[in-house]
Amino acid sequence: MQGTFYLVGVGPGDPQLMTLKAAGILKKCDIWFVPSAFENGGSMALKIAAGAVEQNGKTILSHRFPMKQVHRGQPADPEVKSAWQEAAKTIMGHLAAGRDVVFPTLGDPAIYSTGFYVCETLQEYGSPFQVEIVPGVSAVGASSAASAMPLCLGDERLVVIPATFANERIRELLNLCDVAVFMKVHKVMPRLVGLLEEMGLAGNAVLVERCSLEDQKIWTDVREAVGREIHYFSTMVVRKP
Ligand SMILES: C[S@@+](CC[C@H](N)C(=O)[O-])C[C@H]1O[C@@H](n2cnc3c(N)ncnc32)[C@H](O)[C@@H]1O
Repeated sequence: MQGTFYLVGVGPGDPQLMTLKAAGILKKCDIWFVPSAFENGGSMALKIAAGAVEQNGKTILSHRFPMKQVHRGQPADPEVKSAWQEAAKTIMGHLAAGRDVVFPTLGDPAIYSTGFYVCETLQEYGSPFQVEIVPGVSAVGASSAASAMPLCLGDERLVVIPATFANERIRELLNLCDVAVFMKVHKVMPRLVGLLEEMGLAGNAVLVERCSLEDQKIWTDVREAVGREIHYFSTMVVRKP
């Protein structure tokens, strides 16, 4: 019998925010295929997973995925594509041998997760294997909860925006919505906060750094975070007045 590929959201950091289903799948799968963004193999998804489920006895396959932008509808960077392909080939080998593989991913798999590209690559290869996707608590919801900033009330509209977008595109989206959640903000804080100031929204924004982790920090005045070293795990919620 062939194995099943599980793409499992492990939440934003606190293992207690992982679902029972995610923990159950991690427990039953012997092979954990973990994404890492750095050469030294450090993986936040693994750290979170191992905080809820004993990793001793598991085969941990760490795979480096380069942190480069992906533009949908355009060919992916060759280095990025080859990382997805190598991952898919390794996973297919185990599935074909009847072994289940779990891919723990930060937050929710549906939101900017590398795991989905690996799923797509498996499909491109015509993989006949079963795939199961398990949702997780996204940094979007977790940052809203930590800052007590609701995402949608009544007839409000929400957008999720990578802060790396050009100002023009961000301005357009902010004009269309009532609440915006900015991800990947850490490298562009001065530009983003400058734009929010210009639009009269800087006072309506909250920045949540390392949400749900022990050193979580909430910046209620995002202007104070400009010029500081902000962690990659940072999300901004902007609620228009
Ligand atoms: C590649 S995306 C992954 C999103 C993830 N799939 C999710 O659902 O939260 C990485 C971005 O998620 C956000 N993020 C992830 N973990 C976070 C945390 N613990 N606190 C704040 N933001 C976080 C940051 O904006 C970061 O730049």
